[in-house]
Amino acid sequence: MSILVLGGAGYIGSHTVDQLVNQGFDVAVVDSLITGHRAAVNTQARFYEGDIRDKDFMRTVFDQEDVEGVIHFAAFSIVPESMKAPLKYFDNNTYGMTALLEVMTEFDVKKIVFSSTAATYGEPRSIPIKETDPQIPTNPYGESKLMMETMMRWADKAYGIKFVALRYFNVAGAKADGSIGEDHHPETHLLPIVLQVAAGDRAELSIFGDDYETPDGTNVRDYVHVLDLADAHILAFKYLAAGNGSNAFNLGSSTGFSNMEIVKAARKVTGKAIPTQIAPRRAGDPSTLIAASDKARGTLGWQPKYDNIEAIIETAWNWHLSHPAGYADR
Ligand code: UFG
Repeated sequence: MSILVLGGAGYIGSHTVDQLVNQGFDVAVVDSLITGHRAAVNTQARFYEGDIRDKDFMRTVFDQEDVEGVIHFAAFSIVPESMKAPLKYFDNNTYGMTALLEVMTEFDVKKIVFSSTAATYGEPRSIPIKETDPQIPTNPYGESKLMMETMMRWADKAYGIKFVALRYFNVAGAKADGSIGEDHHPETHLLPIVLQVAAGDRAELSIFGDDYETPDGTNVRDYVHVLDLADAHILAFKYLAAGNGSNAFNLGSSTGFSNMEIVKAARKVTGKAIPTQIAPRRAGDPSTLIAASDKARGTLGWQPKYDNIEAIIETAWNWHLSHPAGYADR
Protein backbone atom coordinates (compact mmCIF):
# COMPACT_ATOMS: atom_id res chain seq x y z
CA MET A 1 0.00 0.00 0.00
CA SER A 2 1.17 3.52 -0.66
CA ILE A 3 1.44 6.72 1.31
CA LEU A 4 0.00 9.57 -0.74
CA VAL A 5 1.87 12.82 -0.14
CA LEU A 6 -0.09 15.89 -1.23
CA GLY A 7 2.17 18.85 -1.88
CA GLY A 8 5.17 16.52 -2.08
CA ALA A 9 7.03 18.87 -4.45
CA GLY A 10 7.10 21.69 -1.91
CA TYR A 11 9.77 22.52 0.61
CA ILE A 12 8.71 20.36 3.57
CA GLY A 13 6.85 17.84 1.39
CA SER A 14 9.88 17.06 -0.77
CA HIS A 15 12.11 16.43 2.26
CA THR A 16 9.45 14.15 3.74
CA VAL A 17 9.04 12.22 0.46
CA ASP A 18 12.81 11.76 0.28
CA GLN A 19 12.94 10.49 3.86
CA LEU A 20 9.95 8.15 3.32
CA VAL A 21 11.51 6.66 0.18
CA ASN A 22 14.84 6.23 1.97
CA GLN A 23 13.04 4.36 4.76
CA GLY A 24 11.50 1.94 2.23
CA PHE A 25 7.92 3.29 2.08
CA ASP A 26 5.97 3.09 -1.18
CA VAL A 27 5.24 6.75 -1.98
CA ALA A 28 2.99 8.58 -4.45
CA VAL A 29 3.00 12.36 -4.75
CA VAL A 30 0.31 14.81 -5.85
CA ASP A 31 1.35 18.39 -6.51
CA SER A 32 -0.15 21.18 -8.63
CA LEU A 33 3.35 22.66 -9.12
CA ILE A 34 1.85 26.12 -8.45
CA THR A 35 4.54 26.61 -5.82
CA GLY A 36 6.23 23.19 -5.87
CA HIS A 37 9.14 21.96 -7.99
CA ARG A 38 9.07 18.74 -10.01
CA ALA A 39 12.85 18.37 -9.59
CA ALA A 40 12.44 18.33 -5.79
CA VAL A 41 10.53 15.02 -5.85
CA ASN A 42 12.57 11.88 -5.24
CA THR A 43 12.52 9.91 -8.50
CA GLN A 44 11.45 6.73 -6.70
CA ALA A 45 8.07 8.29 -5.84
CA ARG A 46 5.24 8.14 -8.42
CA PHE A 47 4.20 11.66 -9.41
CA TYR A 48 0.74 12.99 -10.31
CA GLU A 49 0.44 16.63 -11.36
CA GLY A 50 -2.89 18.13 -10.38
CA ASP A 51 -4.90 20.12 -7.88
CA ILE A 52 -6.42 18.58 -4.76
CA ARG A 53 -9.52 20.75 -5.30
CA ASP A 54 -10.15 18.80 -8.52
CA LYS A 55 -12.08 15.82 -7.15
CA ASP A 56 -12.19 13.98 -10.49
CA PHE A 57 -8.41 14.19 -10.74
CA MET A 58 -8.07 13.03 -7.14
CA ARG A 59 -10.43 10.09 -7.81
CA THR A 60 -8.17 8.94 -10.66
CA VAL A 61 -5.19 9.03 -8.29
CA PHE A 62 -7.01 7.10 -5.55
CA ASP A 63 -8.19 4.63 -8.23
CA GLN A 64 -4.62 3.95 -9.34
CA GLU A 65 -3.04 3.90 -5.88
CA ASP A 66 -3.88 1.59 -3.01
CA VAL A 67 -3.71 4.45 -0.52
CA GLU A 68 -3.09 3.51 3.10
CA GLY A 69 -3.04 7.11 4.26
CA VAL A 70 -2.39 10.68 3.27
CA ILE A 71 0.21 13.23 4.34
CA HIS A 72 -1.18 16.62 3.42
CA PHE A 73 1.18 19.56 2.71
CA ALA A 74 -0.71 21.01 -0.25
CA ALA A 75 -1.49 24.55 0.89
CA PHE A 76 -0.45 28.17 0.51
CA SER A 77 1.60 29.28 3.50
CA ILE A 78 2.71 32.89 3.25
CA VAL A 79 1.40 34.97 6.14
CA PRO A 80 1.72 38.44 4.52
CA GLU A 81 0.19 37.24 1.25
CA SER A 82 -2.78 35.86 3.18
CA MET A 83 -3.41 39.29 4.72
CA LYS A 84 -3.78 40.74 1.22
CA ALA A 85 -5.56 37.82 -0.45
CA PRO A 86 -7.51 35.95 2.27
CA LEU A 87 -9.96 34.27 -0.12
CA LYS A 88 -7.08 32.69 -2.03
CA TYR A 89 -6.21 30.93 1.24
CA PHE A 90 -9.75 29.85 2.10
CA ASP A 91 -10.18 28.50 -1.43
CA ASN A 92 -6.91 26.59 -1.84
CA ASN A 93 -6.37 25.54 1.77
CA THR A 94 -9.79 25.23 3.37
CA TYR A 95 -11.84 24.19 0.36
CA GLY A 96 -8.94 21.90 -0.65
CA MET A 97 -9.45 20.05 2.64
CA THR A 98 -13.20 19.68 2.01
CA ALA A 99 -12.55 18.11 -1.38
CA LEU A 100 -9.82 15.86 0.02
CA LEU A 101 -11.91 14.57 2.93
CA GLU A 102 -14.79 13.82 0.54
CA VAL A 103 -12.56 11.75 -1.74
CA MET A 104 -10.89 10.02 1.23
CA THR A 105 -14.36 9.10 2.51
CA GLU A 106 -15.38 7.74 -0.90
CA PHE A 107 -12.26 5.56 -1.00
CA ASP A 108 -12.46 4.55 2.67
CA VAL A 109 -9.03 6.03 3.49
CA LYS A 110 -8.98 6.74 7.23
CA LYS A 111 -5.58 8.23 8.05
CA ILE A 112 -4.27 11.73 7.47
CA VAL A 113 -1.18 13.52 8.77
CA PHE A 114 -1.73 17.24 8.35
CA SER A 115 0.67 20.13 8.00
CA SER A 116 -0.75 22.62 10.48
CA THR A 117 0.98 25.65 11.94
CA ALA A 118 1.86 27.72 14.96
CA ALA A 119 -0.06 30.46 13.17
CA THR A 120 -3.28 28.79 14.39
CA TYR A 121 -2.49 30.08 17.92
CA GLY A 122 -2.20 33.75 16.99
CA GLU A 123 -0.74 36.03 19.65
CA PRO A 124 0.14 33.54 22.39
CA ARG A 125 -1.34 33.81 25.88
CA SER A 126 1.85 32.41 27.42
CA ILE A 127 5.23 31.11 26.26
CA PRO A 128 5.98 28.31 25.51
CA ILE A 129 2.79 27.59 23.61
CA LYS A 130 1.08 24.32 24.54
CA GLU A 131 -1.22 22.30 22.28
CA THR A 132 -4.11 22.99 24.65
CA ASP A 133 -3.70 26.79 24.45
CA PRO A 134 -6.42 28.83 22.72
CA GLN A 135 -6.21 28.97 18.93
CA ILE A 136 -7.08 32.53 17.86
CA PRO A 137 -5.26 33.24 14.57
CA THR A 138 -4.14 36.77 13.70
CA ASN A 139 -3.98 36.16 9.95
CA PRO A 140 -6.06 34.36 7.27
CA TYR A 141 -3.34 31.77 6.70
CA GLY A 142 -3.55 30.62 10.33
CA GLU A 143 -7.34 30.84 10.19
CA SER A 144 -7.49 28.67 7.06
CA LYS A 145 -5.37 26.00 8.78
CA LEU A 146 -7.41 26.16 11.98
CA MET A 147 -10.54 25.61 9.90
CA MET A 148 -8.85 22.61 8.30
CA GLU A 149 -8.09 21.17 11.76
CA THR A 150 -11.72 21.74 12.73
CA MET A 151 -12.98 20.01 9.59
CA MET A 152 -10.82 16.97 10.32
CA ARG A 153 -12.16 16.83 13.88
CA TRP A 154 -15.74 16.61 12.63
CA ALA A 155 -14.79 14.25 9.78
CA ASP A 156 -13.32 11.95 12.45
CA LYS A 157 -16.62 11.96 14.41
CA ALA A 158 -18.75 11.44 11.29
CA TYR A 159 -16.59 9.15 9.12
CA GLY A 160 -13.88 7.82 11.45
CA ILE A 161 -11.02 9.55 9.60
CA LYS A 162 -8.14 9.71 12.11
CA PHE A 163 -5.77 12.65 11.87
CA VAL A 164 -2.57 13.98 13.35
CA ALA A 165 -2.22 17.76 13.07
CA LEU A 166 1.42 18.82 13.26
CA ARG A 167 1.67 22.48 14.22
CA TYR A 168 5.03 23.62 12.95
CA PHE A 169 6.88 26.62 14.17
CA ASN A 170 9.54 28.13 11.85
CA VAL A 171 10.99 25.60 9.46
CA ALA A 172 14.49 26.08 8.10
CA GLY A 173 17.47 24.24 6.62
CA ALA A 174 17.88 21.71 3.83
CA LYS A 175 19.00 18.14 3.24
CA ALA A 176 22.65 17.96 4.33
CA ASP A 177 23.99 17.02 0.87
CA GLY A 178 22.43 20.21 -0.61
CA SER A 179 20.41 18.26 -3.22
CA ILE A 180 17.00 19.62 -2.14
CA GLY A 181 16.11 22.78 -0.26
CA GLU A 182 13.87 25.82 0.05
CA ASP A 183 12.85 27.69 -3.13
CA HIS A 184 9.89 30.09 -2.98
CA HIS A 185 8.86 32.68 -5.58
CA PRO A 186 8.79 35.32 -4.30
CA GLU A 187 10.84 34.47 -1.21
CA THR A 188 9.38 36.02 1.95
CA HIS A 189 10.94 33.94 4.74
CA LEU A 190 13.61 35.38 6.97
CA LEU A 191 16.47 32.88 6.68
CA PRO A 192 16.49 32.43 2.87
CA ILE A 193 16.41 36.22 2.49
CA VAL A 194 19.26 36.61 5.00
CA LEU A 195 21.28 34.11 2.94
CA GLN A 196 20.44 35.89 -0.32
CA VAL A 197 21.90 39.04 1.24
CA ALA A 198 24.96 37.07 2.43
CA ALA A 199 25.46 35.76 -1.12
CA GLY A 200 25.21 39.27 -2.57
CA ASP A 201 21.91 38.58 -4.42
CA ARG A 202 20.15 41.29 -2.39
CA ALA A 203 21.63 44.51 -1.06
CA GLU A 204 20.26 44.33 2.49
CA LEU A 205 17.74 42.75 4.83
CA SER A 206 14.74 44.75 6.03
CA ILE A 207 13.94 43.77 9.61
CA PHE A 208 10.21 44.25 10.12
CA GLY A 209 9.96 46.08 13.43
CA ASP A 210 12.34 46.56 16.35
CA ASP A 211 9.80 47.81 18.89
CA TYR A 212 8.20 44.50 19.92
CA GLU A 213 8.11 43.42 23.58
CA THR A 214 11.09 41.12 23.14
CA PRO A 215 14.67 41.37 24.52
CA ASP A 216 16.05 43.18 21.43
CA GLY A 217 12.73 44.46 20.08
CA THR A 218 12.66 42.16 17.03
CA ASN A 219 10.27 39.20 16.68
CA VAL A 220 11.24 35.90 18.28
CA ARG A 221 10.67 32.60 16.47
CA ASP A 222 11.35 28.92 17.18
CA TYR A 223 13.33 27.24 14.37
CA VAL A 224 13.12 23.55 13.54
CA HIS A 225 15.11 21.74 10.85
CA VAL A 226 13.15 20.49 7.85
CA LEU A 227 14.56 16.94 8.20
CA ASP A 228 13.44 16.80 11.83
CA LEU A 229 9.98 17.81 10.63
CA ALA A 230 10.09 15.09 7.99
CA ASP A 231 10.88 12.56 10.74
CA ALA A 232 7.91 13.79 12.76
CA HIS A 233 5.54 13.15 9.83
CA ILE A 234 6.74 9.59 9.50
CA LEU A 235 6.38 9.03 13.25
CA ALA A 236 2.87 10.54 13.09
CA PHE A 237 1.95 8.20 10.25
CA LYS A 238 3.20 5.22 12.26
CA TYR A 239 1.24 6.51 15.28
CA LEU A 240 -1.98 6.38 13.24
CA ALA A 241 -1.05 3.05 11.64
CA ALA A 242 -0.66 1.63 15.17
CA GLY A 243 -4.37 2.37 15.74
CA ASN A 244 -4.09 5.53 17.84
CA GLY A 245 -6.80 8.20 17.70
CA SER A 246 -6.64 11.73 16.38
CA ASN A 247 -4.18 14.12 18.02
CA ALA A 248 -2.30 17.41 17.58
CA PHE A 249 1.37 18.12 18.28
CA ASN A 250 3.58 21.19 18.24
CA LEU A 251 6.87 20.79 16.39
CA GLY A 252 9.54 23.22 17.46
CA SER A 253 12.86 23.31 19.25
CA SER A 254 11.44 25.05 22.35
CA THR A 255 14.13 27.72 21.94
CA GLY A 256 13.49 31.18 20.56
CA PHE A 257 15.77 33.31 18.39
CA SER A 258 15.06 36.93 17.59
CA ASN A 259 15.30 38.10 14.00
CA MET A 260 18.45 40.00 14.93
CA GLU A 261 19.96 36.87 16.53
CA ILE A 262 19.30 34.96 13.29
CA VAL A 263 21.22 37.63 11.36
CA LYS A 264 24.13 37.40 13.83
CA ALA A 265 24.21 33.58 13.60
CA ALA A 266 24.11 33.79 9.79
CA ARG A 267 27.00 36.26 9.80
CA LYS A 268 29.01 33.72 11.82
CA VAL A 269 28.15 30.78 9.55
CA THR A 270 28.67 32.60 6.25
CA GLY A 271 31.47 35.00 7.24
CA LYS A 272 29.57 37.77 5.38
CA ALA A 273 28.54 41.21 6.67
CA ILE A 274 24.74 40.94 5.90
CA PRO A 275 23.67 44.61 6.06
CA THR A 276 20.29 45.30 7.69
CA GLN A 277 17.86 48.20 8.01
CA ILE A 278 14.88 48.51 10.32
CA ALA A 279 11.56 48.65 8.45
CA PRO A 280 7.96 49.04 9.74
CA ARG A 281 6.21 46.09 11.37
CA ARG A 282 4.71 43.55 8.96
CA ALA A 283 0.94 43.06 9.32
CA GLY A 284 -0.13 39.82 11.04
CA ASP A 285 3.19 39.06 12.81
CA PRO A 286 2.82 37.82 16.40
CA SER A 287 5.65 39.10 18.60
CA THR A 288 6.99 35.78 19.98
CA LEU A 289 6.30 32.17 18.98
CA ILE A 290 8.02 29.39 20.93
CA ALA A 291 6.69 25.85 21.12
CA ALA A 292 6.30 23.49 24.02
CA SER A 293 7.22 20.34 22.10
CA ASP A 294 7.45 17.76 24.90
CA LYS A 295 4.17 16.17 23.77
CA ALA A 296 5.62 15.20 20.35
CA ARG A 297 8.78 13.97 22.05
CA GLY A 298 6.89 11.93 24.65
CA THR A 299 3.99 10.56 22.58
CA LEU A 300 5.52 10.22 19.10
CA GLY A 301 9.08 9.56 20.32
CA TRP A 302 10.26 12.54 18.23
CA GLN A 303 13.93 13.39 18.74
CA PRO A 304 15.04 16.38 16.69
CA LYS A 305 18.65 15.93 15.59
CA TYR A 306 19.37 19.58 14.84
CA ASP A 307 19.39 21.41 18.17
CA ASN A 308 21.71 24.23 17.16
CA ILE A 309 20.72 27.23 15.04
CA GLU A 310 24.12 27.53 13.37
CA ALA A 311 23.98 23.89 12.21
CA ILE A 312 20.51 24.58 10.76
CA ILE A 313 21.72 27.71 8.98
CA GLU A 314 24.74 25.86 7.63
CA THR A 315 22.54 23.33 5.78
CA ALA A 316 20.48 26.18 4.28
CA TRP A 317 23.70 27.94 3.25
CA ASN A 318 25.00 24.73 1.55
CA TRP A 319 21.79 24.56 -0.47
CA HIS A 320 21.98 28.24 -1.38
CA LEU A 321 25.61 28.04 -2.49
CA SER A 322 25.03 24.95 -4.64
CA HIS A 323 21.65 26.24 -6.01
CA PRO A 324 21.85 30.05 -6.12
CA ALA A 325 18.77 30.14 -8.38
CA GLY A 326 16.98 27.35 -6.46
CA TYR A 327 15.57 24.74 -8.85
CA ALA A 328 15.84 27.33 -11.68
CA ASP A 329 12.40 26.31 -13.02
CA ARG A 330 10.62 29.69 -12.72
N1 UFG B 1 11.19 39.00 8.58
C1 UFG B 1 11.94 40.18 8.43
N2 UFG B 1 12.38 40.49 7.18
C2 UFG B 1 12.13 39.73 6.09
C3 UFG B 1 11.39 38.53 6.25
C4 UFG B 1 10.93 38.20 7.52
O1 UFG B 1 12.17 40.90 9.40
O2 UFG B 1 12.54 40.11 4.98
C5 UFG B 1 10.73 38.64 9.92
C6 UFG B 1 9.22 38.54 10.04
O3 UFG B 1 8.63 39.81 10.26
C7 UFG B 1 9.10 37.63 11.25
C8 UFG B 1 10.31 36.68 11.10
O4 UFG B 1 11.21 37.36 10.23
O5 UFG B 1 9.25 38.36 12.42
C9 UFG B 1 9.98 35.35 10.50
O6 UFG B 1 9.22 35.57 9.31
P1 UFG B 1 8.97 34.44 8.21
O7 UFG B 1 8.21 35.08 7.10
O8 UFG B 1 10.25 33.76 7.92
O9 UFG B 1 8.09 33.39 9.00
P2 UFG B 1 6.72 33.60 9.82
O10 UFG B 1 7.08 33.55 11.27
O11 UFG B 1 5.94 34.76 9.35
O12 UFG B 1 5.90 32.34 9.37
C10 UFG B 1 6.46 31.05 9.38
C11 UFG B 1 5.78 30.23 8.30
C12 UFG B 1 4.33 30.07 8.63
C13 UFG B 1 4.18 29.55 10.04
C14 UFG B 1 4.92 30.40 11.02
C15 UFG B 1 4.81 29.80 12.39
O13 UFG B 1 5.92 30.86 7.04
O14 UFG B 1 3.77 29.17 7.72
O15 UFG B 1 6.27 30.49 10.63
O16 UFG B 1 5.73 30.30 13.30
F1 UFG B 1 2.89 29.57 10.38
